[in-house]
Amino acid sequence: MTGTTRELWRVPEASVDASCIGERAAELVERLQAIVAEFRDVRFASSMAAEDMVVIDAIVTARLGITIFTLDTGRLHDETVQMTARTEAHYGVDIHRVRPQSQDVASFVDQYGVNGFYDSELAKKACCHVRKVVPLNQALHGADAWLTGQRRQQAVTRTELDLREHDSERGMTKFNPIHDWTDAQVWAYLQHRQVPIHPLHDRGYPSIGCEPCTRAIRADEEIRAGRWWWLQQENKECGLHIK
Ligand code: ADX
Ligand code: SF4
Repeated sequence: MTGTTRELWRVPEASVDASCIGERAAELVERLQAIVAEFRDVRFASSMAAEDMVVIDAIVTARLGITIFTLDTGRLHDETVQMTARTEAHYGVDIHRVRPQSQDVASFVDQYGVNGFYDSELAKKACCHVRKVVPLNQALHGADAWLTGQRRQQAVTRTELDLREHDSERGMTKFNPIHDWTDAQVWAYLQHRQVPIHPLHDRGYPSIGCEPCTRAIRADEEIRAGRWWWLQQENKECGLHIK
């Protein structure tokens, strides 16, 4: 295998100094405070992966009163389910678990088969719709702004990401409060502040979604290469973030 490595991706060593992280952390809290001052009901969508743990840490330590929820698709790794409970215990917060409608899941399974998402893009979209998008809409019902942990550096589909967007799909404002953070800053924040880290990050997973649609990656791959690895990079947004 000339020019490639078989080594798994590894969590980067903290390469950013504490003062830089202190500045980024203070700026993050200011961004969140401004959002809370402007909007009545702000909710954060957390997958429990690294970026989202940065945002949770900031929300909780600055006592910002932002509701945290997670979409429990029914196909998550056990480690993700446990990570939600571990985060609640660590911070003393409630994280709302939002689950798909069993009727919707049954219809998907009837039509495509439980793992039908491997067979066609249509089936993949349908599965994400039932297990993620409909629950997201339900989780955001009554909110007037929502937050994500997306970053520009994560993917070719995210290079233009702004702090603030209009989510026309849901008729509300959407914020990406760490859109301009680097990989190194995320990992340095987590390490400097001893934030709980999802165990799959130590097993070659920089990005974590549903279990059947996520694999570990090699050190020389793009950080979202393990997500829907059978699709092209340009087709890797599920309906949570499609504009
Ligand atoms: S995505 O395609 O699965 O959405 P990614 O894992 O990079 O991509 O997540 C981007 C953002 O979407 C996360 O920072 C988080 O805000 C939200 N998100 C993704 N998965 C979930 C989930 N299961 N529950 C809640 N929010 C999620
Ligand atoms: Fe279904 Fe995979 Fe999308 Fe999860 S990531 S909702 S299992 S297609």
